[in-house]
Amino acid sequence: MKQFLEGSDQAYAELFAQARGACVRFRQQLMPPGCEPAMSDIGFEGGSTGQQYRLYVRPVSPGPAIQGEVCEWLHRGERSFGSSESLQAWIRGPLSAAFRCHSVDRGQSTADGVTDMDIVRAQLKQAEPAACYVDAAKLERQLAQKVRGQEHATRQLARTVARQLARLQPARPAVLFAVGPSGVGKTRSAEVLAEALSNLDDSPATYRYLRLDMNEYQEAHRVSQLLGAPQGYVGYGDGSQLLDTLAAEPRTIVLFDEIEKAHPSILRVLMNAMDQGRLSSPGGNGGTREVDCRSAIFIFTSNLRAEEILANIDRLSGRGNSVIEDEVCRRNLLAAQIPAEIVGRIGRFLVFHGLDAEARARIVADCIVATAAEYGLSLQRVSPFAVVEVMKKACGRSFGARPERYSIDELYGAVFAAAGGKGVTGPLALIGPPYAVVPASDSDSEG
Ligand SMILES: Nc1ncnc2c1ncn2[C@@H]1O[C@H](COP(=O)(O)OP(=O)(O)OP(=O)(O)O)[C@@H](O)[C@H]1O
Ligand SMILES: [Mg+2]
Repeated sequence: MKQFLEGSDQAYAELFAQARGACVRFRQQLMPPGCEPAMSDIGFEGGSTGQQYRLYVRPVSPGPAIQGEVCEWLHRGERSFGSSESLQAWIRGPLSAAFRCHSVDRGQSTADGVTDMDIVRAQLKQAEPAACYVDAAKLERQLAQKVRGQEHATRQLARTVARQLARLQPARPAVLFAVGPSGVGKTRSAEVLAEALSNLDDSPATYRYLRLDMNEYQEAHRVSQLLGAPQGYVGYGDGSQLLDTLAAEPRTIVLFDEIEKAHPSILRVLMNAMDQGRLSSPGGNGGTREVDCRSAIFIFTSNLRAEEILANIDRLSGRGNSVIEDEVCRRNLLAAQIPAEIVGRIGRFLVFHGLDAEARARIVADCIVATAAEYGLSLQRVSPFAVVEVMKKACGRSFGARPERYSIDELYGAVFAAAGGKGVTGPLALIGPPYAVVPASDSDSEG
C-alpha cells in the first residue's frame, strides 16, 4: 500500500496505461489504522474511452479516526473518478492522509513504481475470477442484435452491467429501471442480457436469470411467498424463490416485471436490498435469514406513465440524453406515487420508445426466422414482401411488436409446415408472393 500511496507520476502513468479498461486487484493490503479487518483487497479499474476510473476496496469497518470521503469509500467499497488526474489527487490527498503518511512530495517519491507492475501484467493476462472485465461495446452489440431499435437503452444496460461485473466487491446490486410502452422490448432486453452473459466466451461470468411477475404479488399475503413465510404461518419451511435463488447463485439477474403491480410492502423489502445489499426474511426459531445480493442485477420494468415520460423527453429534445431521461423518469415516478426512497435508489433508467417502422421490420424478420425454426427450418433470407405483409396485418394496433408475432404463424405457418413436410434442409429462404420456402441459393434468382 505504501508503494501505491507514494508512487511517482511516471509510475501512475504506467499503471493507468496498463490497466486501461480493465480491473486489477491487489490482495491483502494494509488498511488505514483502526480498520477492521486490518487487511483487505484493493482494486483499480482504468477508464477506457467514455468510462470512469474506479478505486475499489473490499469493504471494512473504518477506524474511529477516519472521516469523510475515505470513511465512505471503506464502507461503500468503491469510488469513481472522472479522470486519472482526479483519482491520483485523491490517492495522494485524502487517502494518504487517512493512512497517516500525508501527501507525498512528488519530487521525493521513494518508491520506483506505484505498485508491483508484474502483478498488474499477470492479472491482466489471466482474468480474476472474482471480478471480471466484460467488453461493454461487445455486450452492447449483442443486445442490439436482439433488441431492435432501442440502442440508447441497450447501451446503458450494457455499460451498467459491464461495470457491475468488474466490481470486486459490489456494495449493492445494480438497479435498473426499464420504462416504456407495452411490447417494445423491456422484458425482452432482460432475457437477452441473461442469454448474452451466459454466452460470453471471454468472461467467466455466468448469471442466473429469475423472472418474477409482479402481477402475482399484488396481495400482502403473497409477499411471504416471495420472501419466505415466518415460523407458525402457512408456507413456513417452503422456502422463498427469490432468496433461495440468490443464496444458490449471488450472480443472478432478477427481473421484477411490471413492478407497479407489486404490493407496496415488496418495494419496502427491496429497498433494503438495494441499499444494504442484503435481503432478509424470517428464518427458523424466530430468527432472520439473510442473503447477500450485492452481486445481483435487479431490473424493474414498468409501463407507469410511459406516455407522459416519452412526451416529456421529446418536448425537452432529450432522446438519448441520459441526464434528461433520468430527471424526467424520476419526476414521473414520484408523480405516480412511487415512494421517494425507492425512486432515489434506482441506479439507472432505461427508456424504451415506441418502435419505428425500421425496428418493427427487423423484429418481424427475426420473428419469421424464429417461427420457421420451430418448424425445423433454417431461414437465411426473408422476402421483404413477407415482412411487409406481417406489418400490414398488425398495423396501428399498438406501439409494440407483440401483434406481429401472432400474425406470422397465421400467414406462413402452412408454408413452413409444407416445407418441413417435404424435408427441405440447409440454408433456406422465404420467397414470394406466392410464398414458399426454397433453398437460399435458388432464391438469388428471385425478382
Ligand atoms: N425492441 C424489440 N426488439 C426485438 N423484439 C421485440 C422488441 N420489442 C418487442 N419485441 C417482441 O415482442 C415481444 C414482447 O416484448 P416485451 O416482452 O419485451 O415487451 P415489454 O416492453 O416488456 O412490454 P410490457 O410492458 O407489455 O411487458 C418480445 O418477446 C419480442 O418478441
Ligand atoms: Mg414486459
